[in-house]
Amino acid sequence: MPLAERGIRVTGIDLSRPMVERLRTKVDERAVPVVIGDMATATAPGQYSLVYLVYNTISNLLTQAEQVACFRNAARHLVPGGRFVIELEVPELRRLPPGQEALVYHAEPGYVGLDTYDTVRQHLVSHHFTFGEGRQARLARSPHRYVWPSELDLMGQLAGFDLEKRWADWSGAEFTAESRSHVSVYRLSPAP
Ligand SMILES: C[S@@+](CC[C@H](N)C(=O)[O-])C[C@H]1O[C@@H](n2cnc3c(N)ncnc32)[C@H](O)[C@@H]1O
Repeated sequence: MPLAERGIRVTGIDLSRPMVERLRTKVDERAVPVVIGDMATATAPGQYSLVYLVYNTISNLLTQAEQVACFRNAARHLVPGGRFVIELEVPELRRLPPGQEALVYHAEPGYVGLDTYDTVRQHLVSHHFTFGEGRQARLARSPHRYVWPSELDLMGQLAGFDLEKRWADWSGAEFTAESRSHVSVYRLSPAP
């Protein structure tokens, strides 16, 4: 929405009609059109200088093949030299002791977040528990396929991208061994 407000042509792709209905309470179809479809395969009209997937969205694709297809789909939408920007968590596997299958990643009054891991399938399920003073809690869960940054870079190579820059976050902080997420900029190889 902020990009569209600055006069930049923006098109979205989302699989979920309810999510798009939420978007429509904030901005109309003319300002931010959305194609309903799978980001690994759907086509948005036109050619773009930038494609982006923020807030861990690529991990919503639950197989490696779909994630590679998503990179290739991004490449299909880009002009030569265009960028694909991904914001993604670094898997917290260094905190997962052998034999343990769940990690609490956040706890505060009224909220506990924990991830369960299936390290064979490279899957995790995020569990969000919210609760008040009573004994009842509300649980929301989302499945993900987690990806180490180097695997993501290889997916980029398969789709014709080079990693141009990697930061730890949107402030441009240096990416280090302690970073819990990254913002990575892939550049599509210019046409030969
Ligand atoms: C974490 S949210 C992304 C954040 C949101 N776009 C924003 O900027 O606030 C993930 C979004 O990806 C959508 N999604 C999940 N799997 C998808 C798929 N295979 N193809 C397209 N969209 C998908 C979900 O419906 C959801 O809207």
